[in-house]
Amino acid sequence: MTNIYMTGVNGRIGKKLAEQGVKPLYCDVRDLEMVDNTVSEVMPNIIVHLAGKTNVDYCEKKENEEDVIRTNFLGVDNVASVAEKYGATFVLLSSDHVFSGKRWLPWHTYNEKSSPLPVNFYGLTKLAAEGLRKLYPNFKIVRTSYLFDKERLDATLGQSYPSFIHRSFMYFPHFISNFMLYLNQIDKMPDILHITGSETVSWYKLMGEYLGDTDILHHDKDISTEAPRPHRAGLTTRYPDLLPQYSYKD
Ligand SMILES: NC(=O)c1ccc[n+]([C@@H]2O[C@H](COP(=O)([O-])OP(=O)(O)OC[C@H]3O[C@@H](n4cnc5c(N)ncnc54)[C@H](OP(=O)(O)O)[C@@H]3O)[C@@H](O)[C@H]2O)c1
Repeated sequence: MTNIYMTGVNGRIGKKLAEQGVKPLYCDVRDLEMVDNTVSEVMPNIIVHLAGKTNVDYCEKKENEEDVIRTNFLGVDNVASVAEKYGATFVLLSSDHVFSGKRWLPWHTYNEKSSPLPVNFYGLTKLAAEGLRKLYPNFKIVRTSYLFDKERLDATLGQSYPSFIHRSFMYFPHFISNFMLYLNQIDKMPDILHITGSETVSWYKLMGEYLGDTDILHHDKDISTEAPRPHRAGLTTRYPDLLPQYSYKD
C-alpha cells in the first residue's frame, strides 16, 4: 500500500484528501529541520505539497513579501529536498495563476506546454516553486484552476462577479476523485499535468448558471484595490485520456 502524506493538511484541499486516506505531515514548511524530522518518522512514498499562502491579495502586499517567499518558494524547496533525501515522490499543487491570462482568442488555451508569465506575486511564487522541478528527481506538478463547491460559491454571494475573468472551474469532488486516481497511478503520469474543468467560463457565467439568475451584479474591470488577476487563465490538458474529464456543468 502506497504511503501518501501531505502538507497543508488544514486547508480546503487537505481536509478533503484526509477523507480519502491521505495522511497529515504536521510541520511548518519554512523550517527544514522540522520537515526532516516529521518526514523521517513516517517515510512516505509520496508527499503531496499543499501548504502555501493562497490569498492572492495578501501575497501582493509588500509587507507580506518575505513571508510569501519563505512559504511558497523556500517551503517547497525544503519539502522537495527532504522528499528526495528519503526517496519519496514529491507532488506540488500549482495554479493557473502561473499564466498571464492575456491570450486573445478563446481557443488559445493554456496546456502543460504553454509558457507561464504570471501577473501577480502569488503566481510568481508558484512559478518559482515549479522551477525547482529542475533540481529534484521525482518532482511532479499538478496545476488546477478554481475549485468550487456549494460552500465556496455561497461564501461569495452578494458580491459582483467579473465578466472578464475566465477560469476552468472544477467541482471539488471531481478534482478529489481525479487527484486520487492520479496518485494511484503516479508512475504513469507526466511531470506536469493539468487536472481541471474541461470548459472555461467567466465568473459571471458560472454564478449566473449556479443561481439561475441573469440579473446578478457584475463588473467588467479589475477592482483597483486588489491584486491583478490573469483574465483568461483557464487550463486545458494535452492528456485528456489519462483521467475522466468533467465540465463545471457536471
Ligand atoms: N483551492 C483551489 O481552488 C486551488 C486552485 C489552484 C491551486 N491551488 C493550490 O493548492 C494548494 C492548496 O490549496 P488550498 O485551497 O487547500 O489552500 P488553503 O486552504 O489556503 O490551505 C493552505 C494550507 O497551507 C497551510 N500553511 C500556510 N503556511 C504554512 C507553513 N509555513 N507550513 C505549513 N502549512 C502552512 C495553511 O495553514 P494556515 O491556514 O494555518 O496558515 C493552510 O492550511 C495551494 O498551494 C494552492 O496554491 C488551490
